Amino acid sequence: MTTSTENVVLHVADVHKTFGGLHALSDIDLQIEEGKTHAIIGPNGAGKSTLLNVVVGRLAPTRGAVVFDGKVLTGKQPHEINQVGVARVFQTPEIFPDLSVLQNVMAPAFAKRDGSFKLNFLSSLDDEHQIRKEAEEMLEDIGLSEQKLMKAGSLSRGDKRRMELAMCLMQHPKLLLLDEPTAGMSRHDTNTTIELLKKIKERGMTKVIIEHDMHVVFSLADKISVLAGGRIIAEGTPEEVRNNPKVQEAYLGGAH
Ligand SMILES: Nc1ncnc2c1ncn2[C@@H]1O[C@H](COP(=O)(O)OP(=O)(O)OP(=O)(O)O)[C@@H](O)[C@H]1O
Ligand SMILES: [Mg+2]
Repeated sequence: MTTSTENVVLHVADVHKTFGGLHALSDIDLQIEEGKTHAIIGPNGAGKSTLLNVVVGRLAPTRGAVVFDGKVLTGKQPHEINQVGVARVFQTPEIFPDLSVLQNVMAPAFAKRDGSFKLNFLSSLDDEHQIRKEAEEMLEDIGLSEQKLMKAGSLSRGDKRRMELAMCLMQHPKLLLLDEPTAGMSRHDTNTTIELLKKIKERGMTKVIIEHDMHVVFSLADKISVLAGGRIIAEGTPEEVRNNPKVQEAYLGGAH
C-alpha cells in the first residue's frame, strides 16, 4: 500500500490491552488517514470497542501509544482528548433523557464554549440563536425534526443513536469515532444516517466506524481493518477485504 504517513492523523502504535489473563488487544498498529472513513469490523468480542475505549482515554493500554494530530493521547483524560477534537458515538447512547431532543443537540455547542457540559443559559442570545439554528439544521439532516420537542429519554433506540450523532457533530470534531452507529435502526433510518455521514465526509471530517452492518461499511469505508481475537487479521480497501479468505473464515468461526 502506498500510504503516505504525512496524511496519518491517528496512529495507534503497538497497543496491547489485557483484562486479567484475557488479551483483548494484541500488537495493534493502526494508521488512520485524514479525511477518510476507516471501518473496523470483526466478530463479537473481537476487541473493537476496547480499541475505541483506548483511543478516547476510557481505558489505559497495557502497552503502546495513541497519537492524534501529532499529540500523544495516552495518559490523557477522556475530556482532554475530547478537547483536542476527538468525539465519539458510544455503543450505548449517553444523553440527557429529561431534556428535549433539541436541547440535547444544542448542549455540546454550549459546552464547547464554556468548557463544561452544563447548559449555560447565561450565554449571549446571539450565540443561542446561532446554535439553535445549527441544531435545527442538523436535526433536519438526520431526520429528527418532528421529534425535536420530545423528551430525549422517550425516543426509540435508533432515534437516540441518531440524536447522539447529531450531538457529536455539533462539537465539530476533527476525528469522529462511531461504535455501531446504526445498531437498532430501521433500514430507512440507517440509510438517512449513511447519507448524513457521507455529507460530513465532504466537509473533510475523519471517521473511524465500527459496524456489523456490511451495507453501512461498504457504503462508507475507504479502508477496512478486520479485528479477530484482539488482532488485526486483514486490512485494505473494501474490495480487498471482501475477497480475503481469512476474513471469511473469521466470520464463519465467529458469531456472525
Ligand atoms: N472492562 C472489561 N473487563 C474485562 N473484560 C472485558 C472488558 N471489556 C471488554 N472485555 C472483554 O474483551 C473482549 C473484547 O471486547 P469488546 O467489547 O472490545 O469486543 P467488540 O469487538 O466490541 O464486540 P461486540 O461486537 O460484541 O461489541 C471480550 O472478550 C470482552 O469480554
Ligand atoms: Mg463492541
